[in-house]
Amino acid sequence: MAREFTKVGVVGLGTMGAGIAEVFARNGIAVVGIEQSADWLEHGRDNLRRSTDRAVGRGKLTKEAQHEILGRILLTTDTNALADVDLVVEAVPERLELKQEVFGALDEVCRPEAVLATNTSSLPVTRIGIGSRHPGRVLGMHFFNPATVLKLVEVVSTDHTDAGLADDIAAFASRLGKVPVVVGDRAGFVANALLFGYLNQAIKLAESGSAGYDEIDAAMTKGAGLPMGPFALLDLIGLDTAQEILRTMHADTGDDRHDPAASLRALVEAGRLGRKTAQGFFGYEKPGSGRRTDQAADQADGEATQGIVETLLYPHLVDAMRMRDSGYATATDIDNAMKFGCGYPKGPFELIEEIGADRVKAEP
Ligand code: 3HC
Repeated sequence: MAREFTKVGVVGLGTMGAGIAEVFARNGIAVVGIEQSADWLEHGRDNLRRSTDRAVGRGKLTKEAQHEILGRILLTTDTNALADVDLVVEAVPERLELKQEVFGALDEVCRPEAVLATNTSSLPVTRIGIGSRHPGRVLGMHFFNPATVLKLVEVVSTDHTDAGLADDIAAFASRLGKVPVVVGDRAGFVANALLFGYLNQAIKLAESGSAGYDEIDAAMTKGAGLPMGPFALLDLIGLDTAQEILRTMHADTGDDRHDPAASLRALVEAGRLGRKTAQGFFGYEKPGSGRRTDQAADQADGEATQGIVETLLYPHLVDAMRMRDSGYATATDIDNAMKFGCGYPKGPFELIEEIGADRVKAEP
């Protein structure tokens, strides 16, 4: 019989943690949201309030429903409140020692049969699991930003994860209306491994001076049909997060495509981290806002757009073929990951089918 998950903990209520807590609460699940201090807890409360206010403002949620959803989330700094949860999702900042510490603490308070999941985007789940005395109950449950909108959940099992646990978590994710993709523990899993090589190449293309940020963004939205251009997306994700993921990927693959671009490193160094600091590749009205203050530059003409699409999209599709050929994920899983995790209207293999594999593989 499939496991039941009726009460769930979320540790860390930043953008991702708050979004994950909201996903559970919207599905009628009791949530315990943990933060390290009263200040951070207030920040988490604001994140939850802002996100649900936005849904109310758009007429997608009634005030009463918002009240019910928020009422299902107990916010506290006391980890003992996790004593009776069935599952905990950890979403604290991407530092291995910090995550291992959290998993050690969870061992002390959670029931032995509770499942411990990490939402890490860039660290090896196996190494995070070392923080627990029971690595059999540890796995990855990786959500995508915005977590309430994007349906992908990458369920990552390690060599130590108990048999059948990933399938139980995948079944639970499906009950939440998500699309689970079950994979092994490899740098970047499916979606980030493919996405970030492409995003990094977009930055390097701009650095080469052949096209500006707006031109590249417009080419990838209008010319390739992606929901956001690479620079708008990098600002949404957070440039520090992007740099961290690229570093992990680069250490794993040694591929130049993953070596963080110089201007990304410079922006992170300058504290310009994207929407969250109101400054990234673009400028925004206030921290957290997606509304730009700077005027979008002129767009490229048809020929230049096609050139940008071929330079950025085709190698991205070749990476997808390589991943499938490595046996890490099937073409269907890869298509689902990019469609439901990154909002692509068509998956890489559907695009390859349309464009033709030979054309995609041809050197520019
Ligand atoms: N937070 C919460 N909800 C948001 C949001 C945000 N920042 N931005 C948009 N939404 C919601 C809207 O409220 C709306 O909800 P509704 O349909 O219930 O009213 C819905 O999303 C659609 O919004 P819009 O019509 O305003 O805008 P778009 O149709 O342009 O969609 C988008 C916005 C969903 C962000 C879309 O552009 C998209 O899918 N972009 C790609 C995002 C992406 O690739 N994310 C993955 C990043 S990688 C990652 O997260 C992994 C991690 O490890 C780094």
